[in-house]
Amino acid sequence: MTPIDQLSEQEAKSELVQLEKQLDAANSAYHQNDAPELSDATYDALKRRNADIEARFPHLKSEDSPSEKVGAAPVEGFGKIQHAVRMLSLSNAFDDEDVKDFDKSIRSFLGMNGPEPLSYTAEPKIDGLSLSLRYEKGILIQAATRGDGATGENVTANARTISDIPQIIDNAPDVLEIRGEVYMSHSDFEALNERQTERGGKTFSNPRNAAAGSLRQLDEEITRARPLLFFAYAWGEISEPLAKSQTEAIARLQGFGFSTNPLTKTCVGTNAMVAHYRKIEAQRSTLGYDIDGVVYKVDDLALQARLGFRSTTPRWAIAHKFPAELAWTRLEGIDIQVGRTGALSPVARLHPVTVGGVVVSNATLHNEDYIKGLDSKGENIRDGKDIRVGDWVQVYRAGDVIPKIADVDLNKRPEETKPFVFPDQCPICNSDAIREEGDAVRRCSGGLICAAQAVERLKHFVGRSGFDIEGLGAKQVEQFYQDGWVKEPADIFLLREKYGSGLQQLKNREGWGEKSADNLFQAIDLKKTIPLNRLIFALGIRHVGENSAKLLAQNYTTWDGFEAAMKNATVGNGAAWDALMAIDGVGAVLAASVVQVFHQDAEAASIKRLTDLLTIEDVVPTAPSDSPVAGKIVVFSGTLEKMSRAEAKATAEALGAKVSGSVSAKTDLLVAGPGAGSKAKKAADLGVETIDEDGWLSLIGAE
Ligand code: IVH
Repeated sequence: MTPIDQLSEQEAKSELVQLEKQLDAANSAYHQNDAPELSDATYDALKRRNADIEARFPHLKSEDSPSEKVGAAPVEGFGKIQHAVRMLSLSNAFDDEDVKDFDKSIRSFLGMNGPEPLSYTAEPKIDGLSLSLRYEKGILIQAATRGDGATGENVTANARTISDIPQIIDNAPDVLEIRGEVYMSHSDFEALNERQTERGGKTFSNPRNAAAGSLRQLDEEITRARPLLFFAYAWGEISEPLAKSQTEAIARLQGFGFSTNPLTKTCVGTNAMVAHYRKIEAQRSTLGYDIDGVVYKVDDLALQARLGFRSTTPRWAIAHKFPAELAWTRLEGIDIQVGRTGALSPVARLHPVTVGGVVVSNATLHNEDYIKGLDSKGENIRDGKDIRVGDWVQVYRAGDVIPKIADVDLNKRPEETKPFVFPDQCPICNSDAIREEGDAVRRCSGGLICAAQAVERLKHFVGRSGFDIEGLGAKQVEQFYQDGWVKEPADIFLLREKYGSGLQQLKNREGWGEKSADNLFQAIDLKKTIPLNRLIFALGIRHVGENSAKLLAQNYTTWDGFEAAMKNATVGNGAAWDALMAIDGVGAVLAASVVQVFHQDAEAASIKRLTDLLTIEDVVPTAPSDSPVAGKIVVFSGTLEKMSRAEAKATAEALGAKVSGSVSAKTDLLVAGPGAGSKAKKAADLGVETIDEDGWLSLIGAE
């Protein structure tokens, strides 16, 4: 390698282009495919060389320089905006049957037993990024990305540069939040990549990344120079209703000056919906922009309101996805990765191949049985064909998910291949890797002694939905673990105390200067105060995802309450167990997993060391506290005539009540329809207040 001080300007320029490509590829392999391609040392060396060249030739630094990026994580530096109304995602349908089920579940929720079909809108699902635009008295005052749905990034200055987005709207409601998709057309995407190549800048792998990268620029002049487009399709907070139906509402958005998608159609019944899906699918390749499915929405807005939301998706809409994209390539190797819960996951190393516009070199192989050609019930998949290193395999990619291996071509199998032998020892710590009865996954039994598990747990802990500490990402955590500085989460909060004196130790480390070390300590201090749900999620307990962490937090409201309840509970019986199981969305597997963690001494002690260093924010009940049923335990029994059981339950929960399936002394209210029988009797015996369906409706003000 030429020493930096001997590089000519021309050489420096071409080397920077090279480095940027390599680092971008490494970043996306690491962050998006979850499958690193470079060793940490190589990655660091490349990054350092890039920074050193830029330091000598500052004018060659490109606008997308790798030194400005922390992995593929969100650009730091945008303000945060709390969405007045959460920005949700959509659940998916993959075939016509799923669409029929969607319609059925809606009718059953609404108690519609008759034959008349429901009306839906059907429109393309644009593959871009969603944006929420807030207008007050007709003036655009704020634009925010979706972020995690509750909080997004403030990209107002950037949004103002997009010509599809009106700055002023005549005759708008006082408060009007318009939601839609920012996207880039195919031709603009190609032209942008050409320009970038000429200038030695970064090229984008697909129009969606290009749109996201272009919108989320700290300098909005860069956004202005990028040809972004916007389709409006939904709304958030509004001071007055827009219309009575989705169809009319979309027409109003158009009237406000927004582009709406010309392929939007009102369809009566599922046959018409699916027919429109086929029509859109047939036009897909000629539209000039990427779409990845068709979105159906219940047309009647009053029904949408009754249907409401699950935790992250509306009940009244669904995305009917197009089939995944496929390609064939050679399987060059199978690596085993060890995850946070000890799961041994086989990863396919592929000869790089383009699948739907994205180069894929890694894919998941799920588990040992999947490689053998068996599903979770021991039945054949792929006609029982196993997968071997050297095989010709079919890769498929759907949306942003990790690519998968769908099939293998036995006609192209080289002669010398052998069946893959799945290891029965952890490749990292050599502990036995055990597969329990009924579990598809083989797990390392090393627990906390397994370096891979410990590191993965730490990565999860500092991840975006966990503690999200600026400057402390996967790579740094790994480095600190290797150094022995951070072995468990609590150690993160002791870093300053133990290693920060004069910052000597850290600042002498490669890649750390005095300023970055100091910034890190400050960033860590900032996260010493943490909302309860984030903490529960960050602990990385098996089966506890973001949603279940939220459910647990909302139910127990304080850390002390949660911890005590888990310590008191025994798996399978007792009041504390029953209370845990009574949470809607918590099943036995999750419940047992959480309870067990608090009964393992080493785990519980590690958690205690952590929580002693934190200030944990209680959950403030979100349910309207002025609701007459907030905090009450309600039981529905017998036949309800004006709503389905599901709707009754959802409404009660939205008003802050807890809905239970059985009457006990703790029950506050029984809503009894005809045939309530034994529950009504039990309620009478226990002196629990009992009302009928009309009584309930008038109590909650629905009549
Ligand atoms: S409606 C409450 N309509 O898909 C429902 N979303 O997977 C809000 N998207 O976050 C979404 N085209 O970014 C809707 N025609 C469309 C869409 C669309 C693209 C995106 C949107 C959303 C994501 C959900």
